[in-house]
Amino acid sequence: MRSLTYYVGATLDGFIADALGGFDFLPVEPDVMQAMAAEMPETFPVHAREPFGVTDVPNKRFDTVLMGRATYEPGLNAGIASPYPHLRQVVFSRTLSAPEPEVEVVAGDAVDVVRELKRQDGMDIWLCGGGALAGQLLGEIDELVVKRYPLALGSGIPMFAGPCELTGFAPESSHSFDSGVAVTTYTRR
Ligand SMILES: NC(=O)c1ccc[n+]([C@@H]2O[C@H](COP(=O)([O-])OP(=O)(O)OC[C@H]3O[C@@H](n4cnc5c(N)ncnc54)[C@H](OP(=O)(O)O)[C@@H]3O)[C@@H](O)[C@H]2O)c1
Repeated sequence: MRSLTYYVGATLDGFIADALGGFDFLPVEPDVMQAMAAEMPETFPVHAREPFGVTDVPNKRFDTVLMGRATYEPGLNAGIASPYPHLRQVVFSRTLSAPEPEVEVVAGDAVDVVRELKRQDGMDIWLCGGGALAGQLLGEIDELVVKRYPLALGSGIPMFAGPCELTGFAPESSHSFDSGVAVTTYTRR
């Protein structure tokens, strides 16, 4: 069965964006981006593919991306209605209508949606975020890949929001980059 991976960038204190939704404070570190381009080129959105040399690179791990509306919408407002045209794009929203045929807008029980996707054939599924969607899907996350930046923020949008059950993950691998970022992969215990 396909697995669900939450791959996300976070501060030391577990925030993925500030309270207003910005995450420019998480720097684009060339050493990290090069490694990610090699491992998961499909996680680069359309406007970043040429700069990071992954324009024609085939997907390696994922063929589907899941986004909450608040994760998807800033790109839409900036004119990028289909940020990951090389993936099946599923956006969770009760307020948005599909802006592009390439983007599926779904509403309802996120766990049911993911279980149905997992039953289908294909490559693994990337949960892009944000925290509200990830909080609902914590029980379905098979793998967590956290890019941990050496920064503390104190408040903002957490990696998992809303009521969540205490869930254990086992560290599988970790790489510390010269830039100070550590990328750690965990699997569900
Ligand atoms: N650092 C990183 O790597 C990273 C990665 C991803 C995102 N982010 C940041 O995280 C922030 C967004 O996170 P967030 O926690 O605020 O929001 P989010 O999870 O991206 O989106 C929340 C919205 O998704 C919709 N939604 C969630 N569950 C749903 C369900 N079961 N059915 C239908 N719709 C559902 C609702 O939209 P409606 O109100 O339209 O119904 C809800 O308001 C953004 O600032 C983004 O930039 C950072």
